[in-house]
Amino acid sequence: MASHDILQLLVSLPGEFVSGERISQQLNVTRASVWKQIKQLKEEGFDIEAHTKKGYCLRKTPNSLNAWVIEQMVETKSFGHVLSIEDKLKSTNAKARELAREGGIHGQVVIAKSQYAGRGRMQREWQSPLGGLWMSVIIRPNLTLANASKLTLAASVAIVDAIEELYQLRVGIKWPNDLLYNGQKIAGILGEVVGEWNRVQTLILGIGINANFSSEKLGSILTAATLKEILGYEVDLNRLAATILEYLEKQVTALEENLFEDLRSNWMARAVGLGEEVRVLRGEEVFRGVFKGISQDGELLLSTEQGEERFSAGEVRLR
Ligand code: BTN
Repeated sequence: MASHDILQLLVSLPGEFVSGERISQQLNVTRASVWKQIKQLKEEGFDIEAHTKKGYCLRKTPNSLNAWVIEQMVETKSFGHVLSIEDKLKSTNAKARELAREGGIHGQVVIAKSQYAGRGRMQREWQSPLGGLWMSVIIRPNLTLANASKLTLAASVAIVDAIEELYQLRVGIKWPNDLLYNGQKIAGILGEVVGEWNRVQTLILGIGINANFSSEKLGSILTAATLKEILGYEVDLNRLAATILEYLEKQVTALEENLFEDLRSNWMARAVGLGEEVRVLRGEEVFRGVFKGISQDGELLLSTEQGEERFSAGEVRLR
């Protein structure tokens, strides 16, 4: 018996005590086994009140990352229904890639409490200490190749929406998908294709959110910030993960239905540096011009002295 069968039972009777006898009968296990599972759940951070005569009552679910809690919270069709959480991984993107090759499904999620070789865009390192949300989602979208490249734009809007809903924070997006608060980076997205795009049609969306730790741990306090520092309290990582997955599923579904215009205007409404003089770095090249927005194909539009330039990769530097 999984301890989560007991949880299902306790959750279905909110605020009520359920006797050990009833649990053991209903789940067809011994009283000793019930007690053992309850002990394990308490160790996982579930606040379960035990009363010798009345039985057990679930008072509170844990704040620390817990797969079962996220699966219960998430209101989606498919995202987050298959989800695993590891204490430590090299990189959740690497793990999700393995899972995808072994048949992982659309919307399957892998989370790590910390990563020891987290990866960022442009082959950069991504510091991933305990307290952050380091999560990758397997996406097997019903999209053409051209539309699939818009998935990371969709992910940035999804995260911004989730953060705004949960903490009323207005977060900006720096093209293509750096999330900034007051000019400091609080989250990043790494989209990676598995196998050959045309044939396999699988993408791993890696999402990193600086949540419950101090930015000193990142060694770059000037350019990064964490939600805990901004808000002055620790956020509920289970709720954050579940809410992001809900918005992400909505955005991906809208893209599949060819509804890019809404996404494009939502993305632009949050864009940092829009209408301003910026520099775009593409490899060794540097382009200067006015950031005009993103095109119908999801490229960055830059108005330069030589005319309009379009970028599908690179990086923006604000003044
Ligand atoms: C960036 O802004 O450079 C993208 C950062 C993406 C980091 C996340 S954390 C979860 C997933 N696993 C990784 O190794 N990277 C992504």
